[in-house]
Amino acid sequence: MKNTINVALFASGSGSNVENIVLYFKNHPRIKINQIFCNKPDAFVLKRAEKLGIASFIFNKNDFSNSNVVLDKLIELNTDFIVLAGFLWLTPSHIIQKYANKIINIHPALLPKYGGKGMYGSHVHQAVVENKDSESGITIHFVNEEYDKGKVIFQKSTKVLATDTAEIVAQKVHQLEYNFFPKVIEKTLLGVFD
Ligand code: GRF
Repeated sequence: MKNTINVALFASGSGSNVENIVLYFKNHPRIKINQIFCNKPDAFVLKRAEKLGIASFIFNKNDFSNSNVVLDKLIELNTDFIVLAGFLWLTPSHIIQKYANKIINIHPALLPKYGGKGMYGSHVHQAVVENKDSESGITIHFVNEEYDKGKVIFQKSTKVLATDTAEIVAQKVHQLEYNFFPKVIEKTLLGVFD
């Protein structure tokens, strides 16, 4: 059993999930959120990280995909597990190999529906509304070398009404994310490291 599990969060945008996760694990006896990794220097998640007192690391595409800059930083921080929480780039194979079955992502739809490259944020919710789906939801899954194709850990659905706009669907999905993502992270981590 590993006593302290160090978790790095990756995000590209607003970071409301990051904030929710950090607050959930604030006084956790074993799970420590030790760093926010972000690929956008002007992303709001960096302001949230500062306010929450969590260090952040900003990187570019080359640092992430074609060099060991990000991987070396993860190792230097003794990172045990990676959570993608609103992060858009495809994870390169050298990071996936080092963190085999230790990277998870949240997707704002019921995969395999509405997954793959370009299917993120409002694009997903727009597609759900255009197709007149009666439900949407969240999928939490392990990350492999293809977008949104890793093993599913957890799904939860929410009803979509005929009158719902993409914004309303987004709000419903975010609510599921806030309610379930931290708990699923906790359960997954304790399962992997016990
Ligand atoms: C979430 O809907 C998440 O599922 C998706 O990107 C969004 C990020 O929102 N992958 P936020 O940055 O956490 O507010």
